Amino acid sequence: MQVNNVSMNLSAVSSKQYPDDGYPEIALLGRSNVGKSSLINTLINRKSFARTSSTPGKTQTLNFYNIEDQLYLVDVPGYGFAKVSKKQREEFGAMIEEYLTTRKVLKGVIILTDGRHAPSDDDVSMYQYVSYYHIPTLIVSTKMDKVKKNQWNKSSSQILKTMQINQTDDLQMFSAETKYGKDQVWDWIESKMSN
Ligand code: GTP
Ligand code: MG
Repeated sequence: MQVNNVSMNLSAVSSKQYPDDGYPEIALLGRSNVGKSSLINTLINRKSFARTSSTPGKTQTLNFYNIEDQLYLVDVPGYGFAKVSKKQREEFGAMIEEYLTTRKVLKGVIILTDGRHAPSDDDVSMYQYVSYYHIPTLIVSTKMDKVKKNQWNKSSSQILKTMQINQTDDLQMFSAETKYGKDQVWDWIESKMSN
């Protein structure tokens, strides 16, 4: 998609605060610090529209980015961040579950996993969770600029195996540094928007 106009329309912690204009939504899921906000910035050609940070736990609400009045990209707080309190973790969990299980205009989710490491147990659980609810999912292996090219095949087979992904086209290598994979991620998003 040719993106010129983006606004962060709103932040929500519960369903009453979700936008009500009916645009399709694609949500970004993944561990804290994996690069969700950076992926959004790459997709919309901005350096720091979605706030990023080297400290995990930056994004704490559901943030709805209005893309050209056609789509919302939804930035979700990262899971598996040990430093937030147990209570806060439970609140995040409830907020994310409410969103994933009730949101009618949610057309798909992108789960980010860190290309430098094997997918975590949290990544696997999240994938199983969204699969259970039949939410179309793209796995994005990010920070691939940190992985040597000759390791990419090994890395992708490990992800396919650990996460038990059946379709190889449900996995996309990506880097917010080099923009590798940006067009493919957009193609996937656009293919889900009209479903
Ligand atoms: P939370 O909001 O805390 O859940 O984190 P997040 O998943 O939104 O991560 P964020 O986009 O803030 O990125 C975390 C850190 O990883 C930042 O320092 C980014 O610059 C860095 N980062 C993100 N994507 C990439 C990438 O593709 N390559 C490299 N080398 N660094 C990246
Ligand atoms: Mg973030």
